[in-house]
Amino acid sequence: MIPEEKVREVAERISIVEVVSEYVQLRRSGGNFLGLCPFHGEKTPSFNVNPAREIFHCFGCGAGGNAFSFLMKIEGVSFPEAVKILARKSGVEIEERQLSQAEKQAQDERQQFQKINELATNYYRSILTKGQEGEQARQYLARRAVESDISEAYRLGFAPDRRDGLVKHLNSNGAVLEVALKLGIIRKGDAGWFDLFRNRLIFPICDARGQIIAFAGRVLDSSLPKYINSPESPLYHKSSVLFGLDMALQSIRNENAVIIVEGYFDHLALYRAGIRNVVATCGTALTPTHAALIKRHAERVYTLFDSDSAGKKATIRSMELFLEQRIPADVIMLPAGDDPDSFLSKQSTEAFFEQRDKARPIFDFFVRSLLQETPPSSVSNKVKVINELSPCFKKIGDTAERSLYEKEICRLLDIRTHEFRKQLGGLSPARSHQAPVVNGNIPVIDRSQEMLLALMGNFPEALETIRGQGVGTLFEGDYLTLAETILKETANIDSPDWSAMMGRLDKQELRDMLSRLLFSASQLEGMDWQIAFDDCRQARIKKQLTTKNISLRLAVIDPDSEEHAALLKLADEELRTRKSKF
Ligand code: GTP
Ligand code: MN
Repeated sequence: MIPEEKVREVAERISIVEVVSEYVQLRRSGGNFLGLCPFHGEKTPSFNVNPAREIFHCFGCGAGGNAFSFLMKIEGVSFPEAVKILARKSGVEIEERQLSQAEKQAQDERQQFQKINELATNYYRSILTKGQEGEQARQYLARRAVESDISEAYRLGFAPDRRDGLVKHLNSNGAVLEVALKLGIIRKGDAGWFDLFRNRLIFPICDARGQIIAFAGRVLDSSLPKYINSPESPLYHKSSVLFGLDMALQSIRNENAVIIVEGYFDHLALYRAGIRNVVATCGTALTPTHAALIKRHAERVYTLFDSDSAGKKATIRSMELFLEQRIPADVIMLPAGDDPDSFLSKQSTEAFFEQRDKARPIFDFFVRSLLQETPPSSVSNKVKVINELSPCFKKIGDTAERSLYEKEICRLLDIRTHEFRKQLGGLSPARSHQAPVVNGNIPVIDRSQEMLLALMGNFPEALETIRGQGVGTLFEGDYLTLAETILKETANIDSPDWSAMMGRLDKQELRDMLSRLLFSASQLEGMDWQIAFDDCRQARIKKQLTTKNISLRLAVIDPDSEEHAALLKLADEELRTRKSKF
């Protein structure tokens, strides 16, 4: 637990505009700042930041909160982690709770891992750039047109053809070999310690923050295996690492899309061409963890695999993941015989963008490759095609998309929809998963409760009036929870700290709601709060009370009260509309 006064101290030192600006390009718009929402794809900005209240709100997708919740959402971290990140930035020291012995050891070991990986990287790098032993590798890179700036950006290196070059380097720099052993980059045999990588070009592999966690080594000739990688270790889990993510994050956010390639050299070729929103899998098929990682940073994916049959297989294998996780994915196709590296060595970046713009939805690609293998020229072939595509078809999460594909498949196979459905096994496309509303989580909005909350947030007099009347009859559900929180948090306070209040709301829906109402100030400008308040109260009462419980209520309240008069009027109206229906 981080003490509350520490959180407050951090909150006081940071500015939400600065925090958000690291991810979103903001421009001033009146008292607010405006930009493209990083949480959903949009072309016109509806993402607002209010520096006075230290909060943000997106009118497109409804997301809202303060600097901490922004960071939680965009980095996928917990509240304490978000506080710690911002504490570091703002120079606030947060004492950790006393670590246990085991935790201290683990922390200490992590620091040693980091140091060892840095030492190894520098060692390989100095061999590549300086030593006589690096000459062959330098020539190799020159042949592949890898200039020194690119080599530097990737921190490429070369492991010389020596038994224990790295071992000696680590030893003489005070690293504990037993710790390096856990990273798998050195080993211990009968004849003593020896290096894992020998006579290989070295690619350091980093996590999303740019910390080195493993290495990949490529031979300089055509011998096999072409690559070896660091083994799995406490730092490196290859199923959850995307190579190059750290270099790509900024561009992935700007483009709201990520290009996935298979090879280290493919990544490098795109980077060299100025295409930066690229990641590579580290010699494994794409995993659900990869997909989740991608989903955290981008709304859509392009796959860019080799044009050979292995590349095609990899594309289709990745499809299931994208369909399941509802990540829109398109396939960039390259001319036969090309991989991204070879394509870009002959063609311009513009030519590549043309290929990208011709990319086809991955399911479409899949259906077409099925039909190439099995032309729908006979009934049995058609059945075969349907059977092969049905498991994937059923995974298409979006109902609209499924219907479109259903149509397209039926057209291509020249069959009727009901025949297709029958063959699928009676699964109706409208059922299975329900498609989400566009932009996912737009809440159901009740206009009068919304307005009442907005009045509370923007007119102190309205706030006090509602405090006097109580919130029970005015609000319900999440609105009620929020109204109660606002009353509690603003009691005996002159200028409420909305951002801090935001932080104490533990439900994202409530934070979204609060930011929305605080941002509605501009629409309320020049409004007579009293009139708006009376209208909304009427509407609420009307909604809650039918004629029957109007009379129940009338029986128990003070006949001289305002409410009594209002109810009478209501009951009267109710009766009249009923009569007119006959
Ligand atoms: P070039 O062929 O030099 O352009 O290298 P590349 O990085 O493009 O490799 P390639 O297209 O042959 O393979 C794609 C990726 O698969 C590589 O980057 C590696 O991640 C992985 N890979 C390829 N060969 C091996 C291998 O022999 N062992 C392991 N562990 N991974 C490999
Ligand atoms: Mn390749």
